[in-house]
Amino acid sequence: MGRNDFKLSKLFRGIIPKHKYYSKFQNLNLMTRIHILSSTDRPGSMALKISEFVKKQYDDLGVEAEVISLEDFPIQDVAGGKYGADIPSVKAFNEQVLDCDGLLMVIPEYNGSYPGILKLFIDYLPFPAAFDKLPIAFIGEAAGAFGSLRAVEQMQMVCNYRNAYLFPERVFLQRVHKIFSPENGISDELQAKLLDSLIKNFASFTERNKGERERKAGVTA
Ligand SMILES: Cc1cc2nc3c(=O)[nH]c(=O)nc-3n(C[C@H](O)[C@H](O)[C@H](O)COP(=O)(O)O)c2cc1C
Repeated sequence: MGRNDFKLSKLFRGIIPKHKYYSKFQNLNLMTRIHILSSTDRPGSMALKISEFVKKQYDDLGVEAEVISLEDFPIQDVAGGKYGADIPSVKAFNEQVLDCDGLLMVIPEYNGSYPGILKLFIDYLPFPAAFDKLPIAFIGEAAGAFGSLRAVEQMQMVCNYRNAYLFPERVFLQRVHKIFSPENGISDELQAKLLDSLIKNFASFTERNKGERERKAGVTA
């Protein structure tokens, strides 16, 4: 950011929402690709709305990002417990999700945990390679007061087991219907600041770690 840009961003501070002036005045210049996983199949979910909002932030920062929703997981093709079977629709979905340098999961809290479809998706990923050395970040969101803290921490254990690189910054959007709208973003100042930080720093984290995964792919090919 040049000196004039900095002056302008100061001038606009307080007039336009924080995420907008950040995005206008900072391009991260990173060659990294992030997939944002809306981690539920519930139609009309807040998870998908937040995922789209996060993608917009990445667009503005000049970082390549794509939203993938678990609404599109081919659940009908796994009925009956087809673990380990070669299922073309599942393979295609998995490849789409994993073709990235970093995965950002947006996780709602369902019954004190993460949605069942998220575990089902993970149980059909190739073992052990899928998450190995893959940078993964977590945004929790819930109607309740704990912002999906329980769900995220439980999913961190699963991703840790699968040898992912867990990004240490996490965000928990509490009472999500009150503090978030697609039009206005996050109204809670602290949560908005934490989300800005996670979005930017996760992009740098994926960039720094992507060599590891490429090297690994080279070894196993
Ligand atoms: C099956 C189910 C279980 C839920 N359990 C919880 C819960 O344990 N704690 C909570 O704060 N909200 C719970 N909620 C409400 C969600 O937090 C709420 O739907 C919120 O919008 C986030 O989910 P969404 O991304 O599906 O919209 C539950 C919702 C569903 C559909």
